[in-house]
Amino acid sequence: MPPSAAEGLYLGLISGTSADSIDAVLVDFIRGTPQVQATHTHPWPSMLRDHMLALAQGEAAVDLDAVGRLDVAIGHCFADAALHLLEQSGTAADTVRAIGSHGQTLRHRPSGEHPFTLQLGDPTVIAERCGIDVVADFRRADVAAGGQGAPLLPALHAMLLARPGRTRVVLNLGGIANITVLDADGSVRGFDTGPANGLLDAWCMRHRGEPFDRDGVFAASGKVDLSLLDALLADGYFALAPPKSTGREYFHLDWLTTHPQLAAVHPADVQATLLELTARSVATAITQHAPTAEEVLACGGGTHNSVLMRRLGELLTPRAVYSTAQYGIDPDFLEATAFAWLARQRLLGLPGNLPAVTGARGPRVLGAIYQASAAVSSSRIFSGAH
Ligand SMILES: Nc1ncnc2c1ncn2[C@@H]1O[C@H](COP(=O)(O)OP(=O)(O)OP(=O)(O)O)[C@@H](O)[C@H]1O
Ligand SMILES: [Mg+2]
Repeated sequence: MPPSAAEGLYLGLISGTSADSIDAVLVDFIRGTPQVQATHTHPWPSMLRDHMLALAQGEAAVDLDAVGRLDVAIGHCFADAALHLLEQSGTAADTVRAIGSHGQTLRHRPSGEHPFTLQLGDPTVIAERCGIDVVADFRRADVAAGGQGAPLLPALHAMLLARPGRTRVVLNLGGIANITVLDADGSVRGFDTGPANGLLDAWCMRHRGEPFDRDGVFAASGKVDLSLLDALLADGYFALAPPKSTGREYFHLDWLTTHPQLAAVHPADVQATLLELTARSVATAITQHAPTAEEVLACGGGTHNSVLMRRLGELLTPRAVYSTAQYGIDPDFLEATAFAWLARQRLLGLPGNLPAVTGARGPRVLGAIYQASAAVSSSRIFSGAH
């Protein structure tokens, strides 16, 4: 008898909106609680990344052949990331219950007549190369149920970080920023507040030729342009009531350059203004939606930007703002851990979304299972090796 899907090792894979790298994490669920066993950050081949970003931002014409090839190429990179993690941690593939693979989002349009969200990274390639069942396509069941398909992190945030009687906010500073409000009464809310690092990365690449503004040094060398900041903050997205989610197809460089004020502003001042945009939009969302929160626990790559973290601390005073590392949770692997958890939820037939967050009509079991080859599966059952 194979052991219950409730226990054992799961592997989570994600590349977020920044497409900075593929995060891979091996998670052991001990009495339902995820314990991170090993992590790996896998680089993207730069040509593939450039192509993905061009498509994701609508800069490249959509060519169906190219999309088909890209799906497989991304699948291979995700498989490479998983295999590297298994090898580096000395983990045998047949001890892993399943891989939860988010893939790479190329479009996220959860509103309109035919709402959709599109992640690439062929799960059959990952299953074939790793010999492990793969759960993928986590967002679409929520969108089909009238939800945003995002954010999906709040359920895990609640499991790991909720404290009864205390309102906390978990803030994910990825390409996009999202907050999870863990209310004192146990209820959970959450939504995307707007850009976090995505615009900062893009402007830094254009003017410095570097993929991100390490430690916010470029932003710190400029000063905030209030006229540009006001114009950016006037965007309708910030005032929209939740549920709401957004992505790179909306907040990208073309969005920035549509603002006529930009032309008169020095590049370093634009970088400072973009950092302020992230800090202000996040702080406003928190003060409006979680006025009684005493603590903001931050995760995602933006936690390494000390200029951004300091500014958030100032704007959110007297609330304390710190990294989830303070609670023993690696801020760089919480998102990948969520996809390991979501894979386990799928195998257990349990929901992964929170309708109060995504706006879906109800809880939904998320993701589809792509089984590794029958030969691998039957040998696993008969050898009893898990
Ligand atoms: N030392 C650092 N200084 C400044 N920024 C950093 C640093 N390290 C990482 N970052 C930022 O973090 C980003 C990556 O963060 P993360 O991986 O959480 O984003 P993501 O993959 O887009 O995730 P999400 O799906 O949550 O949007 C980088 O693109 C960069 O902007
Ligand atoms: Mg990332």
